[in-house]
Amino acid sequence: MSKLDHYTVFGHPINHSKSPRIHTLFAEQTQQKLSYEAQDVPAESFENAINNFVKNGGKGLNCTVPLKELAWQRADSLSERAKFSKAVNTLIVQKDGSLLGDNTDGLGLVADLTINHQISLLNSRILILGAGGASRGIIGPLMEKSPAKIVIANRTLEKAITLSDEFSELGDILGCSYDDIKEQQFDLILNATSASLTGDLPPLAETLLADNGVCYDLAYGNEPTTFVKWGLSHNAAKSLDGLGMLVEQAAEAFYLWRGVRPETANIIKLLNSER
Ligand code: ATR
Repeated sequence: MSKLDHYTVFGHPINHSKSPRIHTLFAEQTQQKLSYEAQDVPAESFENAINNFVKNGGKGLNCTVPLKELAWQRADSLSERAKFSKAVNTLIVQKDGSLLGDNTDGLGLVADLTINHQISLLNSRILILGAGGASRGIIGPLMEKSPAKIVIANRTLEKAITLSDEFSELGDILGCSYDDIKEQQFDLILNATSASLTGDLPPLAETLLADNGVCYDLAYGNEPTTFVKWGLSHNAAKSLDGLGMLVEQAAEAFYLWRGVRPETANIIKLLNSER
């Protein structure tokens, strides 16, 4: 009789998470025997929840808001990309019970932009809204695609500057306030703030998006997010939410755990049809 391997996603809130569905579809597609569940874990319960999961033989887990920085601290070892991003969304339980931390968010975003949506990042002017954990995870993989520059705008200016300083050796990257960019234009605007969750939007100048520019919200929902609507009403060539990124980051996590890479296009199509 074959035993199921157990995986989970921790986060708070977690009831809206599509990760259990995505990983169950991956497992069916690749004929892997595993279970994947969502667990509501607020920050103060993280240490206990993770220790219990490992004690009970769990093989790997994803961490989402608000746990990615805690997961980075908790990991016993880190991949190169996770080391840099100071945020972990995927933990792999090693044979000795130790935890290897990785971050597949940036790779997921870049795969969705460049493969699924055929958007070239080469020489593009990229604006990232927000300077929290979500922004940290994506800067390295975006820089690898050789954009002209990355600007990080944030409500709290110091956080944007701290972040741009940390990544400055990778290329042309600048932290600033929303006011500083009101005369500028960008080919790609990425919303990595948590403002979407409350239906809010940072203060964005009407002329911020260049002709033929693309808007991308790292958040997703059954309805278009406030930022996706902003893009649509400002003539974006494409205004996308983060469903594709979610599936792509999950595929990379699945690969890290199982050594098998699931096919994503049909799963994105299916999830889109269920909105
Ligand atoms: P995450 O890990 O999801 O990135 P976070 O670390 O709490 O979450 O960061 C949230 C980001 O969204 C921050 O950049 C925050 O701006 P501040 O650093 O100034 O707090 C940004 N944010 C949240 N609500 C916002 C709003 N209504 N308008 C503009 N920015 C907002």
